[in-house]
Amino acid sequence: MADVFDKVDEVLAEIKSVEIADSDALEQFRIKYLGTKNIIKPLFGEIRNVPNERKKEFGQLLNSLKQEAEAKFEATKSTLSSAEGKKAASEIDLTAPNDPISRGSRHPVSIVMNRLIEVFERIGFTVAEEREIEDDWHNFTAMNTPEDHPARDMQDTFYLKNSVTRLLRTHTSSVQARVMTTEKPPIRIIAPGRVYRNETISARSHCQFHQVEGLYIDENVSFADMRQTLLYFAKEMYGPQTDIRLRPSYFPFTEPSAEMDVWMGTETETARKLTKGTGWLEVLGCGMVDPNVLENCGIDSEKYSGFAFGIGIERSAMQKYDISDIRLLFENDSRFLKQFSSVI
Ligand code: DAH
Repeated sequence: MADVFDKVDEVLAEIKSVEIADSDALEQFRIKYLGTKNIIKPLFGEIRNVPNERKKEFGQLLNSLKQEAEAKFEATKSTLSSAEGKKAASEIDLTAPNDPISRGSRHPVSIVMNRLIEVFERIGFTVAEEREIEDDWHNFTAMNTPEDHPARDMQDTFYLKNSVTRLLRTHTSSVQARVMTTEKPPIRIIAPGRVYRNETISARSHCQFHQVEGLYIDENVSFADMRQTLLYFAKEMYGPQTDIRLRPSYFPFTEPSAEMDVWMGTETETARKLTKGTGWLEVLGCGMVDPNVLENCGIDSEKYSGFAFGIGIERSAMQKYDISDIRLLFENDSRFLKQFSSVI
């Protein structure tokens, strides 16, 4: 009888004294004392050989044996894992070079557009952003270009499927109509954004590009005001020596209309190439807002006048960065894009 009690004591002493140095030893320990074929289990079978008056005592002894094994297993497991964590941490080489993280860069179109916004914001223009999916009225009709007007042929339009009135805006001039129908003069806005035209894609033209529209409406706004504003813009963008010229032109929404050229000179080869030898680079279209446009949008053309202008962004970006193919601006090839950097 003393045998089974002795056996339990023996196992208990064993559990207490065994040294578990690593996770392999811990696994051995688990299998031996806690696994499905552990050595404690058969001892429970011995209960039937223990006299009745000592059965309870024996049972409690076995339970404490089991608990001892479990407690030792858990305690060792946690000391081992924290020790291994420390060991792993000490193996980190703090002097090793970092994995290079490639930083993004701004798209050349954004760089030019942001610069332009900044220049106009300085003289009190605010940014108006509007939808790219427009209706016929805001894109054409309000802008003095009714349905049978030949000027609609100037801009090949993408219409939405199954629609004769919904289209992708062909110019940011549609924002003029949006603003004038919702705001009262004085109005002083610039509207940067993407526009679309159904054109064959080539090195020089694309079916999508960007414009910045400008609109200034107030009492007594004159052509001279427009010229001064555009001269200021040209000097800010191209340097203080810059000169401009306004050539008479035609747009349905302005009267009179003009195109503005900036003097690039003929000294450098780039300048000659860009200006086709003339020294003058065409930068924007502009003019005095046609009274019909004001009336279409509910603004009294007797009281108010104003000027508007539209600047193409891609051409400026291509000139600034010497990019010879417009398609590069829309392919998002990171080898191309990472060449540009900017703080704005
Ligand atoms: N919307 C014209 C275009 O896309 C550009 C333009 C010309 C805008 C004259 C204007 C303007 O506001 O006054 O070709």
